[in-house]
Amino acid sequence: MESALTARDRVGVQDFVLLENFTSEAAFIENLRKRFKENLIYTYIGSVLVSVNPYKELEIYSKQHMERYRGVSFYEVSPHLYAIADNSYRSLRTERKDQCILISGESGAGKTEATKKILQYYAVTCPASDQVEMVKDRLLQSNPVLEAFGNAKTLRNDNSSRFGKYMDVQFDYRGAPVGGHILNYLLEKSRVVHQNHGERNFHIFYQLLDGGEEELLRRLGLEKNPQQYPYLVKGHCARVSSINDKNDWKVVRKALSIINFNDNDVEDLLSIVASVLHLGNVQFAADEQGNAQVTTENQIKYLARLLGVEGSILREALIHKKIIAKGEELVSPLNLEQAAYARDALAKAVYGRTFSWLVNKINKSLSYKFPGWRSTTVLGLLDIYGFEVFQHNSFEQFCINYCNEKLQQLFIELTLKSEQEEYESEGIAWEPVQYFDNKIICDLVEEKFKGIISILVRALPKANSVSLQSLDFFLHRHKLADQKTRKSLGREEFRLLHYAGEVTYSVSGFLDKNNDLLFRNLKETMCNSENPIVNQCFERTELTDKKRPETAATQFKNSLSKLMEILMSKEPSYIRCIKPNDSKQAGKFVEVLIRHQVKYLGLMENLRVRRAGFAYRRKYEVFLQRYKSLCPETWPVWDGRPHDGVAVLVKYLGYKQEEYKMGRTKIFIRFPKTLFATEDALEIRKQSLATKIQAAWRGFHQRQKFQHMKHSAITIQSWWRGTLGRRKAAKKKWAVETIRRFIKGFIYRNYPRCAENEYFLDYIRYSFLMSLKRNLPRNVLDKSWPTPPPSLCEASQLLRQLCMQNMVWRYCKRINPEWKQQLDQKVIASEIFKDKKDNYPQSVPRLFLDTRLVHEDINAKVLQALGSETIKYAVPVIKYDRKGYKARARQLLLTQTAVFIVEEAKIKQRIDYANLTGISVSSLSDNLFVLHVHCEDNKQKGDVVLQSDHAIETLTKMAMSADKVDNVNINQGSIKFTVGQGKEGIIDFTSGSELLIAKAKNGHLTVVSGPSGFPPHLCSPSSHLQAQDCSVSCVTALSSWIQNSYITFIGSI
Ligand SMILES: Nc1ncnc2c1ncn2[C@@H]1O[C@H](COP(=O)(O)OP(=O)(O)OP(=O)(O)O)[C@@H](O)[C@H]1O
Ligand SMILES: [Mg+2]
Repeated sequence: MESALTARDRVGVQDFVLLENFTSEAAFIENLRKRFKENLIYTYIGSVLVSVNPYKELEIYSKQHMERYRGVSFYEVSPHLYAIADNSYRSLRTERKDQCILISGESGAGKTEATKKILQYYAVTCPASDQVEMVKDRLLQSNPVLEAFGNAKTLRNDNSSRFGKYMDVQFDYRGAPVGGHILNYLLEKSRVVHQNHGERNFHIFYQLLDGGEEELLRRLGLEKNPQQYPYLVKGHCARVSSINDKNDWKVVRKALSIINFNDNDVEDLLSIVASVLHLGNVQFAADEQGNAQVTTENQIKYLARLLGVEGSILREALIHKKIIAKGEELVSPLNLEQAAYARDALAKAVYGRTFSWLVNKINKSLSYKFPGWRSTTVLGLLDIYGFEVFQHNSFEQFCINYCNEKLQQLFIELTLKSEQEEYESEGIAWEPVQYFDNKIICDLVEEKFKGIISILVRALPKANSVSLQSLDFFLHRHKLADQKTRKSLGREEFRLLHYAGEVTYSVSGFLDKNNDLLFRNLKETMCNSENPIVNQCFERTELTDKKRPETAATQFKNSLSKLMEILMSKEPSYIRCIKPNDSKQAGKFVEVLIRHQVKYLGLMENLRVRRAGFAYRRKYEVFLQRYKSLCPETWPVWDGRPHDGVAVLVKYLGYKQEEYKMGRTKIFIRFPKTLFATEDALEIRKQSLATKIQAAWRGFHQRQKFQHMKHSAITIQSWWRGTLGRRKAAKKKWAVETIRRFIKGFIYRNYPRCAENEYFLDYIRYSFLMSLKRNLPRNVLDKSWPTPPPSLCEASQLLRQLCMQNMVWRYCKRINPEWKQQLDQKVIASEIFKDKKDNYPQSVPRLFLDTRLVHEDINAKVLQALGSETIKYAVPVIKYDRKGYKARARQLLLTQTAVFIVEEAKIKQRIDYANLTGISVSSLSDNLFVLHVHCEDNKQKGDVVLQSDHAIETLTKMAMSADKVDNVNINQGSIKFTVGQGKEGIIDFTSGSELLIAKAKNGHLTVVSGPSGFPPHLCSPSSHLQAQDCSVSCVTALSSWIQNSYITFIGSI
């Protein structure tokens, strides 16, 4: 409740004592309305619960809700039935004091529902065991049975309880329900024979007809159709859409077996139910004397069988009246009206007594099996009719309102008493409260001799309303009855000024209902019944008892006074039920109707008594706990006594002297506004506290998160470090092992392959091969080659060859025909001159050109003279005369068949290749050469001495053209040659610093060869041969390589 104090503006206050304007009925109803609209159907008046019937299922009765209210202080949770139930239960357990919960309200206000919900609450929340479960089941299942027999559809409620019920639940020392007991009050028996329009008889009749099996109905002599039974159709609504009789029948049958009814009991019970229906069908006709005669013999047969009586006796009993006067039995016949009355009286009596028997039977099944063994405590639930005021108020209303008057008296007494006791125990001066003391009305009803009930008892059974003069007389003289009141009453009326308002009663039918007369011979018949239930219901002692039986009002008065005693011995809690509308509609709040109930339930009076002193009281601990944050001295912890803490707190809050009182254990606050101001201050304070708590919590949360992350990081780090360490260690270990194997391998390297050296040897091989892979020669000129380990020398050699072959092959694949021709010539040159002639090396890097003279350099006449011969090569040469060795410039032309020596336009000499017998050169670096010619030919002038700047090239081409490669002679010192006609010339070759060719004195031609090398003008090679990737260095290198090793190979390509 405390937590919802703040929501008061929207949903009203949860406790009416906190209403500022507590005397205003309008404010009271407005508060109810506000809450009702929000589906808040419960509100307190102090410890009294006001409940408004929602007429719809609300989600507030679940197990979770029950748990929420279990063991929780009353004011900590919102108002609820469960809070009342739990509070009573806890008081019962902790103080071991019997409790009772009084539930009152108009018909249809929700009393029975409330009772059932409270029982369910106990069934769920109380400790359980097998035995207890059975009791719980029986307590719960007694309801459907009692409702079937005691409830009926009325205009106000489809399931209206037509009896008052007080149910005790016994709890053992553990707080488990172990037994129960039910007291019933004033069953509305008249309903058995008559119902108002729109109403029905008790449910059981309809349930039996609708749900009963064919066989059962046959045994009972019943038909399914309720229209066959006059007792069931007086209200013209035997079937109602909102009631499912068939289903309810199943529930009742099941419940009967749970509450210990065996098949025979059920059969006997239903026989009585059926017999009532058959009684209703008994018809009479008048004979000649006007006496009634039974015309429905068939019904008598059924009745005889069902009630276990002699048919003829029953028939006679129904149409006769037996009186015992002065010890003599007088039997007189009944007229039609009297017979119908007797029949109805029998039906009512049988049903009424069976109902009481049923309650007793249920009580037996609920009774605690070990009384006195262990002490039990009791919690009573009173579900009793509320104050009733109708247009026409009869005997029933009189009893009901009398009952409510008594309950109100009890309530006022107990409330005031408990208030007073609380004030006293708290040491606070009691200020007397003004309230309407209804003792005067109670006395008026129940006082011995003078009370209305006594007057009714004294009235003769046969008296009609008019003879109730003494009542009339008495009431008119009552001190509350003024002149005006008296004048407004009718002749057969009296008016009582109840605490809830005035009610005018009509005395018509009062005495009949009060006397509840059943003729003696019918009683006798029933006493002889073989139906065990009927037999128990009608005791023989009744017949012999001379005393007049107690009238209904007296019985009621007595049972009420017993009830009051029971209730007085217990600590009461109250539930006041309100019905929001007459149309059983959800959400409809009819103010007029509610105002009426607020009045008749005496709620304003309740509130006034409760608010007489202080609106609010709380134990110091609780008050301090809630509000301590409002005062720096009490926040966050107050070390001293709670009393002192509260004193400091209220002083700090500025409470005025008249606003509160300090009791021994509680603080009492007089006005709600003081409490609300405190509550508002708390609401503001909560904001700042919430911020602080949030900050603290966030800090804490973040710290925790950080710690968690740190912990995780450390775990990961350590794991990772461990992993790294392990890896490093493994690596080191591996390294050590490898090194060790290496050292061992090294030591054993020269041994045959064995375990000690195999790794080393493999590694050496591997690393050699790997290094070879990385350092392979890039081209044929690259002579580098990694040094192989001894064991791989042979393989290395093979690989080297393969590699070289591969490179050569690749190179060769790339060369073009021109270059191949060049290389061919170079190879031939090499064959001829290498290591034989000194100036050969200089020729190697020089490209051999196709020709040294272009077409234009050769005279046209020469070309003409050559005819079909094509010039393959031309070069300027110097010819030395054979005789004087005079040097003459000539051109040397090579064709496919001959060598031509040409002087300008004249071919000076033609030497056919066939006549060319040889070519001689010196081994020195001169460029002189001699062409030896066959001399037998006269046309030939003898050998020719020539000099060419490109001697190597010229001679190579010539040797190739003339196919005289093997005929090139390289001479040391001198060359002999023929001059013609058998004469011989000699050329002497010597080395010197300068080239010199001259005729010596001895007639020889002396040639002093200069330093080796080409003349400077010839050093830059001509490049009209367009070799795309040819370079001089490459050629040089290639030629040297060719010289070295692969000449044969190239030659073969
Ligand atoms: N808390 C509730 N939630 C939902 N519906 C309810 C509640 N209380 C009562 N009702 C509805 O109101 C109807 C009447 O309730 P109930 O039988 O308890 O009234 P009553 O006060 O016992 O009336 P009577 O005096 O005629 O026996 C119920 O059948 C049910 O439909
Ligand atoms: Mg009821």
